[in-house]
Amino acid sequence: MMLAMTERLSRRDFARTGAAATLAALLPQGIFGDSAAKRKAVIHADSEIGTVRPEFHGHFAEHLGSCVYGGIWVGPKSPIPNIDGFRQDAVTYLKELGVPVLRWPGGCFADDYHWRDGIGPAEKRPKRVNIHWGGYVEDNSFGTHEFVAFCRLIGAEPYFAANVGTGQPREMRDWMEYCNQPSASALADERAANGSPSPFAVKYWGVGNELWGCGGQFRPEAAAAEFRRYAVFAPTFGGTRPYLVGCGPSGNDTRWTHGFLETLAGGRMPDGYSMHFYERGALPPEKFTDGAMATQFNIFPRVEQAIVQQRALLDGYDPQRRIGLILDEWGVWDRIPREDEQQRGRLWQQSTMRSAVAAALGLNLFNRQADKLYMCNIAQMVNVLQSVLVTDGPEGPRSVRTTTYYAYLLFKGHRAKTALKVETDGPKPADFNPAPGQPEPPPDLSLSASRQGAEMVVSLVNPRPDASMDVECALRGASARRGTAQILHDSDRNAANGFDHPDRVTIQPHQVAVDGAGATFRITLPALSVATVNLELS
Ligand code: AHR
Repeated sequence: MMLAMTERLSRRDFARTGAAATLAALLPQGIFGDSAAKRKAVIHADSEIGTVRPEFHGHFAEHLGSCVYGGIWVGPKSPIPNIDGFRQDAVTYLKELGVPVLRWPGGCFADDYHWRDGIGPAEKRPKRVNIHWGGYVEDNSFGTHEFVAFCRLIGAEPYFAANVGTGQPREMRDWMEYCNQPSASALADERAANGSPSPFAVKYWGVGNELWGCGGQFRPEAAAAEFRRYAVFAPTFGGTRPYLVGCGPSGNDTRWTHGFLETLAGGRMPDGYSMHFYERGALPPEKFTDGAMATQFNIFPRVEQAIVQQRALLDGYDPQRRIGLILDEWGVWDRIPREDEQQRGRLWQQSTMRSAVAAALGLNLFNRQADKLYMCNIAQMVNVLQSVLVTDGPEGPRSVRTTTYYAYLLFKGHRAKTALKVETDGPKPADFNPAPGQPEPPPDLSLSASRQGAEMVVSLVNPRPDASMDVECALRGASARRGTAQILHDSDRNAANGFDHPDRVTIQPHQVAVDGAGATFRITLPALSVATVNLELS
């Protein structure tokens, strides 16, 4: 093992000298198809990173396409089986998955949403045009009460995105009072009259969404001034102190973060700071090539670097790390065929084996950066972008658990455990910023591990389409008594769970071998696979 680590270092040094034509050429024999690639890894059980907050597995639902209408909500009179208007099979699947937190109502929609439109008798709610997502007429039948009821049904913590773009501090302040004041105020009485005498106790409040873009095209200093004003009028109602999320950058925009935080320094800082980072895909979801897939996968090391750099900037203003870094929109955003959108709604996107690998690359890096993150919300929950469920259109009775759903399910065991330091002999995030003229390395083994008492969970991803990997993983500071494994795999990158074959890609049992001393395990990862190993420690 030590030899492997030494080899890794000398390879990297070699690459840095520029003597290497390509990093790919330095990878072990077999990676380009002749036989399984050999990979070595180490899990440092005695080197803890931080808690894998269940909120890393959060979700996002916007009034967009068929995410809310037709996805989550079909209405109580629908012929589609439902529980008080919520699609029944979606509720079952989401409960099985466990959704720690759900962000709503946008997205871009949030900065043109006025919460009062979505309360009171449904037939009296005003109809509004959704200006961001195709100009359809929104009937507001899904509003605050429906959203909170849905969260309660699936066990999720609600996370509201309040309107800054076309709103006012008073609007957010009143929404908070309506939700959280137990009684004795006009707004609390109105909530009770609308069917909810008990307060909703909503903790998470985003102050605007993408204020640099669809939220109002603010400069960072102006967005921070808005945050400051909104925060003045956001008190604790009914014992629920609001956790205010300030609007952070698109990707790793350090200029935005400097401008935003510098404006707020010395005053009320946000409790959370949100960034968005989509992994764009050049092709339609089911028509990816190996090249387009590699390009998309190679965005993930950049996400990891962005988290490290944005956290470092925050630390400059907040050395105690009281401000939580929140990646509240992320996921693959492919080129969506017009026909799919016409048939099934805006940004309707199928998940494939590639998407599942992408999800796992993201979830692995969240574990590795567990000390720097507070929450992550994949975009979006149903039908839109990298969803965990798809339905065959807003009227369609069928819903399907996507490959991304199963990737999330494979990571569920990490929740609330302590993330551990890991190493692999592949490239590191910094290698994905090669010197000019140097190629990027191809995607390689991705790993994360967490532990609680005698349980260790290890997630491994082989993102290569052209070679399986034999991984030998050493445990430092712990030994394993036994292990079991599960895998999600399809050698076809474009394989999906469609309506005619909803279980094409699902989790299967897999082989893992723990050596006699319990110091090492070995596992073979077929090309394009996500595996979870559960180890019982001695
Ligand atoms: O998730 C789709 C859109 O992407 C959201 O509305 C917006 O916040 C982001 O640009």
